[in-house]
This record gives sequence, structure tokens and C-alpha cells, in this order.
Amino acid sequence: MIHSRIVGTGSHLPARVLTNSDLEKMVETSDNWIRERTGIEQRHIAADGETTLDLGEHAARRALEAAGLRPEDVDFIAFGTTTPDLIFPNCAVLLQERLGCHGGAAFSVETACSSFMYALSIADKYVRCGEAKRALVVGSETLSRITDWSDRSTAILFADGAGAVVLTPASEPGILSTHLHADGRYHQMLYCAGGVSRGFGQGEVRMAISMAGSEVFKMAVSTLSKAVDETLAANGLSRSAIDWLVPHQANLRIIQAIARRLDLPMEKVVVTIQDQGNTSAASVPLALDIAVRDGRIKRGDMLLLEAFGGGFTWGSALVRY
Ligand code: ACO
Repeated sequence: MIHSRIVGTGSHLPARVLTNSDLEKMVETSDNWIRERTGIEQRHIAADGETTLDLGEHAARRALEAAGLRPEDVDFIAFGTTTPDLIFPNCAVLLQERLGCHGGAAFSVETACSSFMYALSIADKYVRCGEAKRALVVGSETLSRITDWSDRSTAILFADGAGAVVLTPASEPGILSTHLHADGRYHQMLYCAGGVSRGFGQGEVRMAISMAGSEVFKMAVSTLSKAVDETLAANGLSRSAIDWLVPHQANLRIIQAIARRLDLPMEKVVVTIQDQGNTSAASVPLALDIAVRDGRIKRGDMLLLEAFGGGFTWGSALVRY
């Protein structure tokens, strides 16, 4: 039986940093309020002309380097993003061209903040069925481009960045299970208006993220708590089996609630939100890469990855790293 395994991770952040004190000059808010309600202290914002593809390419190259693979060896790319460079071709195809790996499947996945979890789940299945041998899974965003910088309820949250992992076939299980869900009844709680069919920035359409913050917060906590239980049950494991929680970085209080559900001390949770804000599809692979590179996550550790986002969509994965 073939399994899939993460053999390399990579990430990349734009150089420009926007602090809470910078935001104090842009909207009516305070460093204190932002820290207390979200845990965020600063975030990275792409420079003019720096795109989702640019960030994703850097993260992908780092992941391939860590895996000891050449870019031209990649035969499958799943690219999670809500903020693509073009309507088409998708970012995965554009990335193929940059990496010089042609002919394999290359597609993007758009499920808001859980795009990386969806992309990971699809790639895992292609590797396990033998159709992909060196799969690249990217999560990359320039959410700053769809943030209304005059809306204090969202401007303080969103940010830019990219993360990537490389999957290859393995005889021992690496990715043990993935779980994907969606509930379209809630699509109006978190969305970005504007699109090809409805028009961009015309009439009433404002191309910026709209969010019913406290409702999303409550749904995220209850839904992710169930996702964590589902993931453990599917593998017949108890909470004590988890070495590291690698969560989507939307709000420190959401992360703390999920850690409590798992009975995990915060030292066993990878938290990057203070430095990076909410980078949507990029946040889970970014957090993973940081904890792998600083030596916290070691080979053999049991990881629980999870994300929740607009749609609502959500997903989790249990990974033996
Ligand atoms: N600075 C100061 N005050 C503010 C700010 C701000 N930036 N934003 C809102 N407030 C005020 C509000 O106006 C309100 O004032 P009022 O009581 O006088 O009416 C008060 O603070 C409380 O507002 P709430 O919205 O109730 O604050 P809450 O504690 O819920 O925090 C937040 C807001 C941070 C947005 C939180 O609800 C949250 O993190 N929600 C979930 C976000 C999330 O998980 N998103 C999912 C993924 S994102 C994706 O898919 C793209």
C-alpha cells in the first residue's frame, strides 16, 4: 500500500511589516485592543507588484530544497489561494512555468482560509493512488489586495504570505487522514463581493472582505472543536497522541479554545499570528515550516493541522511528520 509523506516544507513573507501602531494611524483602533482581541502584533504586506505567485514561488523553492528535489521533478501542483494573480491560467500553471516542470496536473483550489487543507487532501489522494510522485502543495495569499483599509474590523486581521509542502510516496503512513467539510448556508457571514460574473467594483459591489466577526468566531470554535474530535476518532486516537497542533492563525483566542479541547498546553501549539496576522491559505503551511525549521517539530511527531474559513469551509489532517 502506498502512503504519502511530507518530505519538505518552505515559506516566505514579504519584507514590508505593518505594525499595530501603523494601523492606529489608519483607522480608529489601538495596539492594546488588537493584541487583546486577536493576539496580532504585526503583519507582512506585499510590495506593489509583488504577487501571490511571487510569494508562492519562494515558498515552493524552499520546500523543494528542503526535500532535496529539483524544481523540474515536480509532477503535480495544487495551489491554494483566494487571491490569484489572474482569473486564468491558475497560479499552479504559472508556477509550473517558473519552476520549469511541465506536463503534470496543475490547478488551484479556492476554499478561502481552508484552501491549503483542501489542496493537501487532494494531493495526498493522488500520491496514494500512484498518480503523483512529487507533489507540491502551496498556500499563498495577498489578502491585503482585498482588504478594506478603512474598515477597522477587518483591516487589523488580514495579511500576506506563503507556505508550501512537498509530498512523495512512502511505505509508512505520513498523512494518516484528512477531513474536508463545507456548509454553504453561511456564505454571507464571510465573503468578498465582486467577481467575473457579478462584475468587479461596479455599482454596489465592493471588492473587499466582509465579515460578521463575532458570529464567525463562535462558529470557528465550535466547528473546529468537532473537526478535532472527528480527526482523532477516525484514527482511533486519544488527545494525548497529539504532539503538536498546527492551526489556522485567525485569532489567538480561537487557537486557545482548540488547544483546550485537545488538552494541549500552549507550548505544544504552533502560534505565528502575533507576527503574521491571518494569511488565510498560507497560515497552516507557514506555521508548519517555521516550527520544522526552528526544530520544535521533529520527524516522527504527530501533528494535527486544521483550518476554517469563508463558505464556511473547514478541514483537518492528522500527520505523522
Ligand atoms: N479597534 C477597536 N475597536 C474595534 C475594532 C478595532 N479594530 N474592531 C471592532 N471594534 C469594536 C466594535 O465596534 C465593538 O464596539 P461596540 O461594542 O461599541 O459595538 C467592539 O469593538 C466589539 O466588537 P466585536 O466584533 O464584538 O469584537 P470581537 O471580540 O468579536 O473581535 C474579531 C472581533 C477580532 C474580528 C473577532 O470576532 C474574530 O477574530 N472573528 C473571527 C475571525 C475569523 O476567524 N475569520 C475566519 C477566517 S478568515 C477567512 O476565511 C478569510
